[in-house]
Amino acid sequence: MLAETIKQVIRDVPDFPKPGIIFKDITPILLDAELTRKIVNDMAENYKDKCIDAIVGIESRGFWFGIMLANKLDIPFIPIRKKGKLPYKTMSYKYDLEYGTAEVEIHEDALQDNWNVLIHDDLLATGGTAIAAAELIKMQNANVAGFSFVVELDFLEGSKSLSKYSENISSLVHF
Ligand code: PRP
Ligand code: MG
Repeated sequence: MLAETIKQVIRDVPDFPKPGIIFKDITPILLDAELTRKIVNDMAENYKDKCIDAIVGIESRGFWFGIMLANKLDIPFIPIRKKGKLPYKTMSYKYDLEYGTAEVEIHEDALQDNWNVLIHDDLLATGGTAIAAAELIKMQNANVAGFSFVVELDFLEGSKSLSKYSENISSLVHF
């Protein structure tokens, strides 16, 4: 029911960011405060008994629901940012894109040893970004407790590459 509503509200933008890609734009969800609240409550319900110590959200669209979810669960939120954006000492992880490489960072003192950390992002495509987040969490001697996405693009099979970090992979809607 909630998933169907979310699917109807998500806007398809053809040929963004490049020709042939149909971009799944979740910004219309955020225009609807009630729907946004329902999504956060639904996610929080899913994790409230899972002993999650912190949420890591991935720049930039992973911040939107990541912060709201962390606040609802009353636990810390930690940002992973693209290289060069975090002001303090960082740990970084480089990964391959279709063309070239990307690098993401986390503050070196962000996580505590053995924390159970949930990774949140707006969308799971190939999984490269979420894997980078998982690697940063492991570098800080914390545990990947699971992955939470608003949207998952099933045909790209990103979840297959995430399962070695955690089998707990949850997406509100699938395309
Ligand atoms: C998009 C999306 C995810 C990632 C998914 O972010 O928000 O973070 O790509 O792709 P993957 O599973 O193939 O790694 P993008 O890099 O476009 O940046 P943004 O969130 O800052 O817009
Ligand atoms: Mg992103």
